[in-house]
Amino acid sequence: MRWSSWWWVVVALHARTLAQSATPSVCHEDACRCDPFTRVICTCTRDNPEVTLRPDGAYRVPATATRIIIDNCTRVTFLPDTVRNLQQLRGIELRNVDHVVINERALSWSPFPNPDEMNPGLRISINNCTIDEIASHAIQGRVNDVVISNSRIKALKPFAFSSLTGVNNIELSDNIFENIEIQAFKKFTVENFVLRGGRINALPSRFLSDVEVTNLFRMEGVTVKYLYSLTFLVNSPKRVLIESNNIETLESDGFHIVTRGPITFRNNTVTNLRKGAFFGFTVDLEIASVMGPQELLIDNNTVTNLTPASLMYNRTRLTLRVDGLNLNTSCACELADNWREVLKEQGGTVTCWYELEGYFVSLPTYVDSRCGPFKHNFWIFVVIGVIIMLVLAAIAIFFIVRRENEKKKKVQIVMPDGKTYRETEFHIVVERAELLTTDL
Ligand SMILES: *[C@@H]1O[C@H](CO)[C@@H](O)[C@H](O)[C@H]1NC(C)=O
Ligand SMILES: *[C@@H]1O[C@H](CO)[C@@H](O)[C@H](O)[C@H]1NC(C)=O
Ligand SMILES: *[C@@H]1O[C@H](CO)[C@@H](O)[C@H](O)[C@H]1NC(C)=O
Ligand SMILES: *[C@@H]1O[C@H](CO)[C@@H](O)[C@H](O)[C@H]1NC(C)=O
Ligand SMILES: *[C@@H]1O[C@H](CO)[C@@H](O)[C@H](O)[C@H]1NC(C)=O
Ligand SMILES: *[C@@H]1O[C@H](CO)[C@@H](O)[C@H](O)[C@H]1NC(C)=O
Repeated sequence: MRWSSWWWVVVALHARTLAQSATPSVCHEDACRCDPFTRVICTCTRDNPEVTLRPDGAYRVPATATRIIIDNCTRVTFLPDTVRNLQQLRGIELRNVDHVVINERALSWSPFPNPDEMNPGLRISINNCTIDEIASHAIQGRVNDVVISNSRIKALKPFAFSSLTGVNNIELSDNIFENIEIQAFKKFTVENFVLRGGRINALPSRFLSDVEVTNLFRMEGVTVKYLYSLTFLVNSPKRVLIESNNIETLESDGFHIVTRGPITFRNNTVTNLRKGAFFGFTVDLEIASVMGPQELLIDNNTVTNLTPASLMYNRTRLTLRVDGLNLNTSCACELADNWREVLKEQGGTVTCWYELEGYFVSLPTYVDSRCGPFKHNFWIFVVIGVIIMLVLAAIAIFFIVRRENEKKKKVQIVMPDGKTYRETEFHIVVERAELLTTDL
């Protein structure tokens, strides 16, 4: 009797473990497998084009997962709280996916009680995907790196990236952003923030809101149609580089950045540079008192519509150096009048479009050769000069023709009849009627 009851207990226990292992995890999805390194690897095929990642129930992500790698799917959905309890997780990689949806709190990961940056963090990388949506609060917690490249982002909701801790890099390269809502990146600290290449229709106010960048802030090679006021509300970068961008309209105070180092605005093409576009740059008080004022360098940019007020800057703890500014407007003396103050401060580094030759020439050089009281009337002098020359030429021709005519009228007559008479010269004097004076 005793033996049989033990036997039943054993059977019951065995049944339970069977039942547990019978609950399939994502490792049992047709598209996915889990390797001995506890990585979840999903490679979709025509027959299994979709993967859904969920925190519990059938086909949940196993608690031991260290990485989630998804490739070549038509649709990938992260349900809310997918990664919350995956303490071993270190990375999420998505490649070649046609529709990615990251729901609210789907990638919220804070498994360690104290927010210590020595704790490991997640690396999130998305390449060549179309992201339908990154929902509000989708990505939170202990994240090391976020790399999104060669992707199309259709909707980035407010607070999509928020309350992150210990972030090293956020790198957004060669993406097409269709709809970015305000405060997409909200209130966290990151070492380097890089926005590089790609196209953005509108960068809204507070795209980065209260984001502390401790090392490098870089925006490079991006084509932007409209960059609104207060798009970048950023503190503390040691270096700010805004290079080789093509911006149609840059609103006043677009970059509201308190730096701890120099700012470089180089090789950009801007169609409309609004008044006070650079007015939002300021320098951290502590840095300025230790290292002196920092420099805002404006170098080799081409701008079509601007006024000197576009270059206004906050002179407290900041200096301006213009090393190259191509005004994409035809050179004219009045242009120089408008830019006199800037030219006085910045020297010969402002150029204008010289229509006659089809290139940019230094505005002061143009002024020296074309403007001023005499040069202003240059063409009038040229015309008068030409008229005087023509008149002189006409007079000269008149006298030459007259002398020739006189020569022809000298006639020689040789008398016939053997004898030689002295040649007689008849001088025929042509007298002009007007020259006759009569008292009639
Ligand atoms: C990607 O998916 C397509 C069908 O959707 C399939 O033909 C192709 O072989 C897959 N590529 C890889 C690398 O798995
Ligand atoms: C990018 O992803 C699409 C599917 O979304 C795929 O057809 C294409 O081959 C991928 N391109 C590269 C360079 O991997
Ligand atoms: C300047 O910007 C253009 C694009 O606007 C780019 O093609 C070129 O390589 C850049 N030059 C330098 C020296 O960065
Ligand atoms: C200056 O800007 C022009 C136009 O964007 C670019 O073609 C050229 O390479 C730049 N030169 C330098 C030295 O950056
Ligand atoms: C200029 O910058 C300083 C701090 O660097 C700030 O206190 C001041 O308000 C700024 N001036 C304007 C007009 O914004
Ligand atoms: C300069 O302005 C002309 C029209 O005024 C425009 O067609 C051209 O693209 C502009 N060039 C640059 C480099 O912005």
